[in-house]
Amino acid sequence: MKACPEREAALALLKKYNAEPFHIQHALTVEGTMRWYANELGYGEDADFWATVGLLHDVDFEQWPEEHCKKAPELLAEIGCSEEFIHAVCSHGYGLCCDVEPTHEMEKVLFAADELTGLIGAAARMRPSKSCQDMEVSSLKKKFKDKKFAAGCSRDVIKDGADRLGWTLEDLMEKTILAQRSCEEAVNAAVEAL
Ligand SMILES: [Fe+2]
Repeated sequence: MKACPEREAALALLKKYNAEPFHIQHALTVEGTMRWYANELGYGEDADFWATVGLLHDVDFEQWPEEHCKKAPELLAEIGCSEEFIHAVCSHGYGLCCDVEPTHEMEKVLFAADELTGLIGAAARMRPSKSCQDMEVSSLKKKFKDKKFAAGCSRDVIKDGADRLGWTLEDLMEKTILAQRSCEEAVNAAVEAL
């Protein structure tokens, strides 16, 4: 089993460096998404590791956007995160803000799903249900193709992420919608309670 900090300590660190509810929401969404993927892909015993990396992957972004993934190791060291944990966090910025390449499958999933959760979240907010529970892959694909929609979510990174996993884009979308459905309600409740 891979070592990772207790959730309480991880959440406290996240909140120490992030005040924006949108950033907390993104962190909680990626946490839940990574937990779903760990179980789905046969890494259930490391689900806490996958989830906690997801929770803290952007810990430095709000305050140090110019040093994203470079400031993170110092912050993560505050709660004793392992080298392996820090590598996983930093690798999601590969080719964008750092040169730590995603190697482990969990790192590739994080790299691919991070941007896509943003796109799914933006698409969900446009729906009458305001939810991804009734979202189909076909409607997400339309949003993906519309370059003006949620323009901040890099389509190239999402495509590159699917390639690194050896998955089709449809497959990545289908899985990530399911992952996001699994945690949407809990994330909304947590954000409401902030
Ligand atoms: Fe992120």
